[in-house]
Amino acid sequence: MKIAVIGPGALGCLLAGRFFGAGAEVCLVDYRPERAAFLQERGIIFIDLDGSRAVRRIPVVLPEGLKPADLSIVTVKAGQTSTAAQDLPALMAGGGIALTLQNGLGNLEQMAAVTGPRRLLAGVTFLGATQPAAGEVIFAGQGTTIIGAPKGSLVRSDELAAVAELFRRAGLACQIRDDIDTVLWEKLIVNVGINPLTAILRVRNGALPEIPEAWKLAVAAASEAVEVARASGMAPAIDPEKRLKEVCTATAANRSSMLQDILAGRPTEIDALNGQVTTRGAALGVPTPVNSFLTAILKALEQASPLRVN
Ligand code: PAF
Repeated sequence: MKIAVIGPGALGCLLAGRFFGAGAEVCLVDYRPERAAFLQERGIIFIDLDGSRAVRRIPVVLPEGLKPADLSIVTVKAGQTSTAAQDLPALMAGGGIALTLQNGLGNLEQMAAVTGPRRLLAGVTFLGATQPAAGEVIFAGQGTTIIGAPKGSLVRSDELAAVAELFRRAGLACQIRDDIDTVLWEKLIVNVGINPLTAILRVRNGALPEIPEAWKLAVAAASEAVEVARASGMAPAIDPEKRLKEVCTATAANRSSMLQDILAGRPTEIDALNGQVTTRGAALGVPTPVNSFLTAILKALEQASPLRVN
């Protein structure tokens, strides 16, 4: 199976590094020529769970050099999905599949706007990955990846099984679910509670339940998301507080992806997370005051980034 991983961020490098290590034919797709040349020349530095360090010489391809792949995995930040989606027609030209493993809602719709929905898969991942510098990835924690065929997809069950097998051969737990649209919401419910508060307070995930006022806000944001999910016709099978606690415990040492973005001065995924709850809630008549407030505060933090005093 020929695999293209779009986006050399933490998750992209983690997946490409693991697939490559398991002998798969994989390339990374980058849109920045200088970075692509640097990564191609130097290789991806991969620090595994046991602390071992390896340089993986994974081919890095620019959009103009793309060849058809059997599986394209979109791992870019949600704000870059529409740009990454422009790569998909060339990658899927041989009938290949594209899988999004990004945080938030709206990614699938942006991909489908370019490719149509038939050859798309969606998924969520609880893998922990951090990126100390470009092309370096620390595998920070095992976690399951859940994939499935969303509404409108015609990807066959044997094709889905082959994708899950690719992950398992690379030592990454992977489950298939036939209600992946609900699974996307269930992950969003977790992210809207953990990500903005860990980013605002600059704490690791494990600290959040220990801060009573922050914890109340996290649970309130997640509970609003459950209401919006229900009003959207989903049936999320989770108790928001219990689920948040489980994820904070399982990923206690992690800096959430939003905290990593804030610390690096990058734009965050707030629009695809709490922003989606607010927009969809407004359209459905479900109040989302906590998500609106957290969205506004995160945008203010992004705007303040260049002005901050130490
Ligand atoms: O975005 C993240 O950081 C992750 O999805 C999660 C599960 C909150 C763990 O840090």
